[in-house]
Amino acid sequence: GCDASVLIRSARNDAEVNNNKHQGLRGQDVVDAAKAGLEDQCPGVVSCADIIALAARDAIAMTGGPSFDVPTGRRDGLVSNIRDADVLPDVVDSIQVLRSRFAASGLDDRDLVLLTAAHTIGTTACFFVKDRLYNYRLRGGGVGSDPSIPAAFLTELKARCAPGDFNTRVALDRGSERDFDDSILRNIRSGLAVIASDAALDASNATRALVTAYLGAASSRFEQDFVAAMVKMGTIGALTGDDSEVRDVCSQFNSD
Ligand code: HEM
Repeated sequence: GCDASVLIRSARNDAEVNNNKHQGLRGQDVVDAAKAGLEDQCPGVVSCADIIALAARDAIAMTGGPSFDVPTGRRDGLVSNIRDADVLPDVVDSIQVLRSRFAASGLDDRDLVLLTAAHTIGTTACFFVKDRLYNYRLRGGGVGSDPSIPAAFLTELKARCAPGDFNTRVALDRGSERDFDDSILRNIRSGLAVIASDAALDASNATRALVTAYLGAASSRFEQDFVAAMVKMGTIGALTGDDSEVRDVCSQFNSD
């Protein structure tokens, strides 16, 4: 949920960020710096949860995507548990599981496709790609490479992520990782998705049709629909009441 639980750091390594699904998460320093500046100017007003939502909005505009307003007023949560990230979508989830995990948070197939398109920017650690390259369960038994990856692209990915390399970073949107655009959808359509959950959008009729629509008939609506999905996602689990606070430092509860 949008309660900045992921920013909490724990000496016992049992905070949400310690879940494997958050491996490689970065940018916390940017949030910390924004928070420090805000605390200087007007202490105790802007929550870490709002800073995350605003930073995501700004990253989109700064990479050439749409500029938009996000509602603010979220407060920061009082709990951060390693197991809380278990419900998040996983790179290895099937399209059915991805759809149901999004649905559990009130997000439909259209939101799934649009929000996955956020992978138009940024990179992934090989950690999240390696199983597709070397440890994919083959139908006939045994393990190998995901057969949906075109041969030349498989060679390219294996050259980037050698066996045992978990840390090298690879663009999620091949050829266009710094530009907010629809090329991630084109890559997904062409079998050039880097992580399995992106490739999975091609594996159900409903999501495949949405990818096709946003590359064609609905292309002029891509940005505005993406913004609507971002605003919707930004309400999930937002806190406003007594069971919350405005943290002084984003990585710590005020009581710590
Ligand atoms: C289907 C659900 C999703 C899955 C399984 C997923 C998975 C991942 C993974 C594995 C990475 C690489 C992490 C790393 O190695 O640091 C990643 C990166 C990223 N994801 Fe997602 N993601 C999902 C949804 C989203 C959504 C909804 C957004 C935002 C709207 C998003 C935005 C990003 C961005 C911007 C990056 C690049 C981060 C960087 O460069 O450090 N993802 N995602």
